[in-house]
Amino acid sequence: MEQYILEMKNITKEFPGVKALDNVTFSVRKGEIHALCGENGAGKSTLMKVLGGVYPYGTYKGDIYIDNEVMKFQNVKQSENAGISIIYQEFALVKELDVGENVYLGKLPGKAGIVDWDMLYYETSKFLKELGMDINPHTKIKDLGVGQQQLVEVAKALSKNAKILVLDEPSAALTESEVQTLMGILRELKKKGVTCIYISHKLGEVFDIADRVTILRDGKSIGTFDIKDINEDKVISLMVGRELTERFPREEHTAGEVVMEVRGLNVYDPEGTDSLVINNASFQIRKGEILGIAGLMGAGRTELVTSIFGGYAGKKSGEIFIDGRKVEINKPADAIKNGLGLVSEDRKRYGLILQQSVTTNTTLASIDKICDWGVINSNKEYLNTSNYVKELRIKTPNLRTKVNNLSGGNQQKVVLAKWLMTKPKILFLDEPTRGIDVGAKFEIYNIMNELVRQGVAIVMISSELPEILGMSDRILVMCEGSIKAEFNYRDATQEKIMYYATGGH
Ligand SMILES: Nc1ncnc2c1ncn2[C@@H]1O[C@H](COP(=O)(O)OP(=O)(O)OP(=O)(O)O)[C@@H](O)[C@H]1O
Ligand SMILES: [Mg+2]
Repeated sequence: MEQYILEMKNITKEFPGVKALDNVTFSVRKGEIHALCGENGAGKSTLMKVLGGVYPYGTYKGDIYIDNEVMKFQNVKQSENAGISIIYQEFALVKELDVGENVYLGKLPGKAGIVDWDMLYYETSKFLKELGMDINPHTKIKDLGVGQQQLVEVAKALSKNAKILVLDEPSAALTESEVQTLMGILRELKKKGVTCIYISHKLGEVFDIADRVTILRDGKSIGTFDIKDINEDKVISLMVGRELTERFPREEHTAGEVVMEVRGLNVYDPEGTDSLVINNASFQIRKGEILGIAGLMGAGRTELVTSIFGGYAGKKSGEIFIDGRKVEINKPADAIKNGLGLVSEDRKRYGLILQQSVTTNTTLASIDKICDWGVINSNKEYLNTSNYVKELRIKTPNLRTKVNNLSGGNQQKVVLAKWLMTKPKILFLDEPTRGIDVGAKFEIYNIMNELVRQGVAIVMISSELPEILGMSDRILVMCEGSIKAEFNYRDATQEKIMYYATGGH
């Protein structure tokens, strides 16, 4: 009989109206990197929450064995004590605390109730260095970008000396080089005998790092394979239950007139200093085109679009024209009035009110469309929402479900639905397919094409170069707050984009 460090046997977990896990058996060998794949809503995060004690023993059916011993976790603490450390998809950092405090949350070092702060910051720096990250441990979490926050999560997990490390969608917010750093760390941990469960929608990574892969579909386990016995196409077809032949539905678009022009945009650091986050950016957006914005993390892409949208804290100067008319956009409401929409990269911070329903979130930015004489017409509200839920194939038990009960990818679709409902002329998409499975990505690309056919101009920020190359008509490359290059998609290659994204080195 094979020796497993972890066995989850016949796990069934139900939520009102959803069977999230249906008799799933999942076995992990000691020291392996085991990938867990499946479409949005397949049950990956739920399975890991069962393992992590988030759903206590008794709220699911089935058994968990660690080193052949049955485990009945009542809470997260007990699971951690058994050597399990999970980095959740929606991270759990406390934004008002600094990096060091977060890493040591719940286990501050020291004796007799006195915290050894020197030790805390020293150890934190050490972990961060191991991660190849140059982050000051005194920085507050809220001042870090999403990618850096993610690496702090990894540091936090490492500090617990985990036997089994679970990473739920860790790379979604990371840039290519950070992903490489993370892969390096995982290989090191593997040498030290740490077992790792790795959830990712990026199959390239899975095939790069994993020893075996388990595929879930609709809450059921489809099978476990040695990575060398399977390929990406096969994994995809097992995940979606059908063949998917192309990744990017490229269409030829004929760009129309200029709908928006940005001239000499300067954006200042929100701290009030003179340093520029965006330096003299000028560009045009045409009706019926997809403009891709490529660049590394920290290049200023998010700052560029959020400041145009009136949602950035720093001061700005320069001019914005919409349909040839100069406009003043000082807050998001001004942007919406002028026909702009923004799907932001951090869906928790700007996109969603997690405690509210799918309907409320979807209609959030288009209240006027569902109101009669200032009163919400719930019939209109329902019809509008259900249309988008159907069109985007949002997986939800019903429209009253709170969005924090949806899987990560389905939350992202709700953000998209919210902005589509405003019927924007210009739609900014900041990392629109982050954390979204291949099948749903394809649906989102199709929706983008459909919008472009209707004459919408789309500006898409993406850190995934294949996506930039696969979907954009035109590509801007940013580095250090400036636009460094512009390409027609036909002339662009990964190498050329990387050349400018890294400052021309
Ligand atoms: N707390 C909850 N209450 C109700 N339903 C839930 C809850 N958590 C998850 N679900 C449902 O269970 C199913 C599985 O969700 P889960 O988050 O495990 O998916 P996932 O595979 O992690 O997806 P993703 O790739 O989008 O993160 C989904 O249909 C989801 O809507
Ligand atoms: Mg998930």
